[in-house]
Amino acid sequence: MTGPPAPGGHYGQDLFEPEHPQEAERIDSAALVYDPVTTGRLRALGSGPGSRCLEVGAGTGTVVRWLLEEADAAEVVALDRDTGGLDDLGGSRVRVVTADLRDESLDLGSFDLIHARFVLMHLPERRRLVSRLARWLNPGGWLVLGDAVEVPNALDTSSAYRRTMDAMWQALRSTIGTDTSGVPAYPHFLREEGLRNVAGELFCPPLVAGSPLARFWSETWNRMRPALEETGQVDSAGIDDALAYLASPQLAELGPGLMMAWGQRR
Ligand SMILES: C[S@@+](CC[C@H](N)C(=O)[O-])C[C@H]1O[C@@H](n2cnc3c(N)ncnc32)[C@H](O)[C@@H]1O
Repeated sequence: MTGPPAPGGHYGQDLFEPEHPQEAERIDSAALVYDPVTTGRLRALGSGPGSRCLEVGAGTGTVVRWLLEEADAAEVVALDRDTGGLDDLGGSRVRVVTADLRDESLDLGSFDLIHARFVLMHLPERRRLVSRLARWLNPGGWLVLGDAVEVPNALDTSSAYRRTMDAMWQALRSTIGTDTSGVPAYPHFLREEGLRNVAGELFCPPLVAGSPLARFWSETWNRMRPALEETGQVDSAGIDDALAYLASPQLAELGPGLMMAWGQRR
């Protein structure tokens, strides 16, 4: 039996190129919505004070800044394939590392907190990378993984919104290997790695017209337009309808959310 062709593309090369003029703004629109949830969880786990932290796929650095400025981390390593969004980070407590998480030769030491948000879902090697990140924990250290989960309305199979959202997940999967279907399994992955105090939670932020989150989805769909049409699930007019709906007072959807899972090394 043959499956679908393996995706050959990469985040940042074949989709969401960092040099695109709207890329930092697109990432920040999501960060604005999710940062309070992420930092609330990190704070509840006692992460920060005096600890050595690794932020994987640091993006525009909002969580790195929080760890340094609010959580009083001793050192934060900010890892990203593209660190252009981290140019303004400085000081003796931060180390910006431009590298690919999948690079086997990467040796960053060990950490009291490792956090990765909206990164592993884009990497087909995610299960192996979870093992790798778990190995980089100090005793007592936390691994916190956050990725997207959608709870779709099963009664809606044909609206422009639904078709566009489905086309987006399909296009992400076939282009760069993004897969959110395994995200609810993260607590199991962490337990398999021998971590304790494992748990997970899901936060679906309100999707309101004109909000940063609605802007994030419309910018994402606009950027992916040709790939969305290629899926055959939605045509150009359907995408226009979905974009107009996102900006309208008629909008009434439970949007995709952030699932976080965490576990602690013995
Ligand atoms: C969707 S953004 C999320 C940014 C940030 N974590 C946040 O939640 O705001 C994904 C980030 O992961 C980075 N990234 C993707 N693949 C990577 C890899 N293989 N190694 C390191 N960073 C990677 C991208 O460059 C980008 O900055």
